[in-house]
Amino acid sequence: MENHKRSFALSNGTAKPASDLVIRPMADGDIDAILDMENAVFSDPWPRMAFVEQLKGPYWGAIVAEHAGVVIGYACYLVVADESHLTNIAVTPEHRRKSVAKLLLERILQIVADLDCTLILLEVRPSNREAIGFYEKYGFDLLYRRPNYYRRPIEDALVMVRHLTDNED
Ligand SMILES: CC(C)(COP(=O)(O)OP(=O)(O)OC[C@H]1O[C@@H](n2cnc3c(N)ncnc32)[C@H](O)[C@@H]1OP(=O)(O)O)[C@@H](O)C(=O)NCCC(=O)NCCS
Repeated sequence: MENHKRSFALSNGTAKPASDLVIRPMADGDIDAILDMENAVFSDPWPRMAFVEQLKGPYWGAIVAEHAGVVIGYACYLVVADESHLTNIAVTPEHRRKSVAKLLLERILQIVADLDCTLILLEVRPSNREAIGFYEKYGFDLLYRRPNYYRRPIEDALVMVRHLTDNED
């Protein structure tokens, strides 16, 4: 790292993303494909309007991972003062364990750090072991448990946090 500016490269030498993977802002034209993924991946998917609103920032936003012209993952964030939230993240099943989510998270950490956020929060279902494994790998710790947070099916949420400091990686 050349100076004090925070950098969120999460690579540890084992990353293996496709070389033609592009991380870019979500656009209107992505929403149909994103909705297909969202409906396939989640039991309580976001409606179209939630994604439409994501594109109207400036204190929230969404990015996608595109491989060979096809969107294979996406992530959304929200900023409230110096706190940020990772509000959504998903990768298509056939592209998992290839560091796609890592690259999406890395970009969001950079975006919210540039907006002077000092931490990033998220909620996750306790039953979602793969997501919890991903978040733990990238420095999120359990903050508290929020009872009956989710619907379809009803489930508690684990609230996790990662502090964003100059030396954290
Ligand atoms: C969670 C999710 C986004 C991870 O995406 P991904 O692109 O596969 O993640 P990455 O390849 O970047 O994973 C990086 C690391 O996270 C951890 N991880 C990822 N998936 C994991 C799993 N199923 N079990 C345990 N650890 C896992 C691993 O340490 C992994 O590194 P490794 O592959 O070298 O072992 C993906 O599984 C997904 O889309 N799940 C469904 C949607 C969802 O649940 N989103 C979260 C809602 S809160």
